[in-house]
Amino acid sequence: MANGQCTVIVGCQWGDEGKGKIVDVLAEDVDVIARYQGGANAGHTVHIGEEQFILHQIPSGILHSGKRCLLGNGVVLDVLQFFEEYEALAKRGIDVEGRVGVSERAHLLLPYHKAHDRASEDKAAEKIGTTGRGIGPAYEAKAGRVGVRVADLRGGERMEKRVREGLERARQRIGGGSAEPKDELEADVRKSLELGGRLLGMATDTGLEVTRALRAGKRVLLEGAQGTALDLDHGTYPFVTSSNTTAGGAGTGVGIGPTAIDSVVGVVKAYTTRVGNGPLPSGFEPEMDQHIRDLGGEYGATTGRPRRCGWFDAVLARYAARVNGLTGVAVTKLDVLDTIPEILITVAYSTAHGDTEEFPADTWSLESVKPRYETHPGWQADTTRAKSLKDLPKNARAYLDRVEELTGAPITMVSVGTDRSQIIRV
Ligand code: IMP
Repeated sequence: MANGQCTVIVGCQWGDEGKGKIVDVLAEDVDVIARYQGGANAGHTVHIGEEQFILHQIPSGILHSGKRCLLGNGVVLDVLQFFEEYEALAKRGIDVEGRVGVSERAHLLLPYHKAHDRASEDKAAEKIGTTGRGIGPAYEAKAGRVGVRVADLRGGERMEKRVREGLERARQRIGGGSAEPKDELEADVRKSLELGGRLLGMATDTGLEVTRALRAGKRVLLEGAQGTALDLDHGTYPFVTSSNTTAGGAGTGVGIGPTAIDSVVGVVKAYTTRVGNGPLPSGFEPEMDQHIRDLGGEYGATTGRPRRCGWFDAVLARYAARVNGLTGVAVTKLDVLDTIPEILITVAYSTAHGDTEEFPADTWSLESVKPRYETHPGWQADTTRAKSLKDLPKNARAYLDRVEELTGAPITMVSVGTDRSQIIRV
């Protein structure tokens, strides 16, 4: 198998690393792009010239004409939003027809999952800060073996019964406090099911498609959503999403074995951001937080919420390199730091029991760690036109060298602006 024939793209922080752009750039050289987990909680932003696309469920590869785009079995598929996104792309002239496949084994995310998600967050004493897109309840139904899959849409009465039971269960969980009117919820469920026939027209066995593509010598990208620190097992539980965002989830989430994957590219922002609740050890003081948020446009692509910002956290990056088995690293948004006079990197966490360079399992302890910083001189020059590493200022190259050294995986790409063309391939 050629190196790079089957590559996973994975976020190495708390999501929003710029995976959409990296997938878009790499998609040019591949044949199939498959999402392996998550749902409409993701917001993958791609800029092409003056145009901006925000993709929630359809892989970012859709913006490259002719490429096959798959939603794997690990995805929880919001049917209404999926078709909205599909139609919106078609209206903007993207040739979506015949290019999108959805796994028959993918679970449907139905409107009652969203109502349940929002009601749970409203009531919770300790809020996760979810996107409200129904992700937790949909995966809960999947793990609880009461979910409805794409293939079930062929099932008539049996499927209807499962949906009725799902709706009833959600209502019980929501209790009296829901803002969703009962009739509206039922009407939305009905609308989703009415799209079932159309969805079945796109149904496929994603594992089989990907395997056949690889056997035919084609190249495949497996597109992750969210990031390592939001992984259900390896992230800052309970402030995580409900799927395995890490590279291990890629094989399971599309239906191929781990030996079919030969490379894993981890995406890191040149600094750190987080949206939703939970600890952010290298978080800035308020003034710098706002400054970087403004410079980097750090507002959620799905919810519009302001992202918290902080310095690059090498403890997390090194952990992500290990958990994902990174073979390469893509650094994004380097240009956002262009005007910053001094740039810090978190190299260790100071705890009551001494310093550690390992990312702790105990999320509550992460709330009280003090980052140990290393200080680097900024470059205070424009990087947005750099086409190769040698075009970068000396201090920017030194910063990247240190990021690479601390992360422990080679940097293969550096993004220096939002446009497709603003990319350095190493
Ligand atoms: P959920 O995935 O909507 O259940 O949200 C759980 C946590 O993951 C919250 O902190 C969200 O803000 C975060 N999250 C979910 N999707 C994304 C994403 O695409 N980017 C960044 N954070 C996300």
